[in-house]
Amino acid sequence: MKLWLPLLFAVWLSAVSGNNNHRANNNNHHHHHNNSHHHNNRRPNIIFVLADDYGFNDIGYHGSQISTPNLDQLASDGVKLENYYVQPICTPTRSQLMSGRYQIHTGLQHSIIHPEQPNGLPLDSPTMADKMKEAGYATHMVGKWHLGFYKDEYLPWNRGFNTYFGYLGGSEDYYNHTKAYTDHKKYLDLRDQNGPVHNETGHYSTHLFTEKAIDVVQAHDSSEPLFLYLAYQSVHGPLQVPEKYERQYRHIQDDNRRTYAGMVSAMDEGVGNLTQALKDKGLWDNTVLIFSTDNGGQIYEGGNNYPLRGWKASHWEGGLRGVGFVTGGRVPLKGTVNRELIHVSDWFPTLVGLAQGSLNGTKPLDGVDQWDTISQGTPSKRTVLLHNIDPLSRNHGAPLYNDTFDTSKKAAIRVGHMKLITGIPGNGSWVAPPGQTEDVVSDGHVPRHKNVWLFNITADPTEHHDLSDQMPGTVRNLLDILQRFNQTAVPARFPPFDKNSNPALHGGVWGPWE
Ligand SMILES: *[C@@H]1O[C@H](CO)[C@@H](O)[C@H](O)[C@H]1NC(C)=O
Ligand SMILES: *[C@@H]1O[C@H](CO)[C@@H](O)[C@H](O)[C@H]1NC(C)=O
Ligand SMILES: *[C@@H]1O[C@H](CO)[C@@H](O)[C@H](O)[C@H]1NC(C)=O
Ligand SMILES: *[C@@H]1O[C@H](CO)[C@@H](O)[C@H](O)[C@H]1NC(C)=O
Ligand SMILES: *[C@@H]1O[C@H](CO)[C@@H](O)[C@H](O)[C@H]1NC(C)=O
Ligand SMILES: *[C@@H]1O[C@H](CO)[C@@H](O)[C@H](O)[C@H]1NC(C)=O
Ligand SMILES: *[C@@H]1O[C@H](CO)[C@@H](O)[C@H](O)[C@H]1NC(C)=O
Ligand SMILES: *[C@@H]1O[C@H](CO)[C@@H](O)[C@H](O)[C@H]1NC(C)=O
Ligand SMILES: *[C@@H]1O[C@H](CO)[C@@H](O)[C@H](O)[C@H]1NC(C)=O
Repeated sequence: MKLWLPLLFAVWLSAVSGNNNHRANNNNHHHHHNNSHHHNNRRPNIIFVLADDYGFNDIGYHGSQISTPNLDQLASDGVKLENYYVQPICTPTRSQLMSGRYQIHTGLQHSIIHPEQPNGLPLDSPTMADKMKEAGYATHMVGKWHLGFYKDEYLPWNRGFNTYFGYLGGSEDYYNHTKAYTDHKKYLDLRDQNGPVHNETGHYSTHLFTEKAIDVVQAHDSSEPLFLYLAYQSVHGPLQVPEKYERQYRHIQDDNRRTYAGMVSAMDEGVGNLTQALKDKGLWDNTVLIFSTDNGGQIYEGGNNYPLRGWKASHWEGGLRGVGFVTGGRVPLKGTVNRELIHVSDWFPTLVGLAQGSLNGTKPLDGVDQWDTISQGTPSKRTVLLHNIDPLSRNHGAPLYNDTFDTSKKAAIRVGHMKLITGIPGNGSWVAPPGQTEDVVSDGHVPRHKNVWLFNITADPTEHHDLSDQMPGTVRNLLDILQRFNQTAVPARFPPFDKNSNPALHGGVWGPWE
């Protein structure tokens, strides 16, 4: 404890003063001409591939029963991120990727953006695509947006992307690209910047999005740098895949797991096809490709995060710790594993920095530039990671203290090795893939009103040893840090569903209604 407290104090200081430091960095960014980003003056092509609901135990190199030869090879040729965090659900991760800002600073702390809600990633700060475009990149997006679309201003082609093709919401049918309204009627959710796309029924989205991404690559004018954001629908539910991808998994008895495994294989093939297209076009040597999941796998729809605890939507590691790697010809470290703390909000300053863009005009960022650790293996610039504070979560149990953060609210924070969880974290079972060694421990054993957990994640990444009773001083310190973050939060926006969102009123297609 004697050694720990000063360290905590130091990271606490950096946590509470972080915003100001970032602001200073933003202003000075354009003076840093000769930092490690710029050893090569040719700006790299930047390709960001985001998978949906892709679990920690679902990639070959984590020892999965699912085979992912293309992803494994790409990761082996680059840097595997093994202390990498995303948000527990879809909209939050995408919002932080595009803004570099925590949800407590954008109002998206609670749940996702439902397609019936007049809500979106706030317009008061530029997106990563805005910054890439400003830096002279050709900017393209293919796939799932999920950051709001009730007004034109929120649509991807008004947020920095020159072209767009994909789904504005989530959970569409993979073949006919429809998504249900609250009355369960299904409407098309597929469009590009020119309008709805009606003629792709029957085209499995993993193939469709891969082909559209390849079209972008092939049409690209190589004299400009390229920024391509490919946000697959894969491998989110509904569980659908062409039979040929499922065939190799006949030995998997569980229907959900077998279909999901096939979906992963289709995505793996798609990423392989995209990288081949980049090579054929002669772009690969000057490319940085990031592959990331958006959150932990959903165990009820075939995904798996074992041996991590919990799954999608929870504040356990199974919800938060993500699959991710960085690869491509412009990644200097080949075949390495990075165990430094990196978060999805870090991509904004990291990639805009790599593009030699400017961070002027953004609201204060919560992400930090991690290119040094990715490209040279130096220590992470991040010691504190706010997983989230959800002010609209149901109160759970009694507050531990009355003069600091209220532990009845759902929140989680990481400071150095230590992680504190408060409120309702979500089901905390350890669930192995069906048919494999079972180790399901129901969170029903947790005392009913318990609302504080403390783990040393470095020593105990599977969260078996709650230290909250043994280390009350650390709990108190982390609560105080949460309290300081909470004081910087904006109110959460979660507006009621708007009947005018009904696609029946707009030509039977999901789209803006205001
Ligand atoms: C950056 O490095 C180059 C070559 O080493 C040098 O000519 C140039 O003056 C440096 N620029 C700055 C801003 O330090
Ligand atoms: C799309 O497919 C789903 C089943 O996967 C079906 O319920 C729905 O009616 C179909 N919609 C259209 C427009 O074909
Ligand atoms: C759908 O229409 C677009 C625009 O006319 C065209 O480029 C595309 O090839 C068509 N797709 C199919 C499957 O016919
Ligand atoms: C990848 O390319 C092959 C060869 O063109 C094609 O058969 C396959 O459908 C493609 N896969 C995806 C996911 O796009
Ligand atoms: C930021 O910098 C870019 C390029 O240096 C410039 O074009 C843009 O106007 C600046 N934006 C703001 C908000 O200052
Ligand atoms: C917090 O305040 C409530 C109401 O005043 C009181 O009942 C409770 O004992 C206090 N709890 C602590 C931990 O001080
Ligand atoms: C966060 O701050 C707000 C505003 O001061 C306060 O009402 C709320 O109780 C705090 N939340 C927690 C979980 O302590
Ligand atoms: C948590 O999930 C596991 C796996 O589905 C289940 O067996 C268990 O009953 C759940 N616990 C609670 C309290 O819902
Ligand atoms: C957490 O675990 C790491 C790795 O075992 C260890 O170095 C560190 O001292 C631990 N921290 C605390 C506060 O127990």
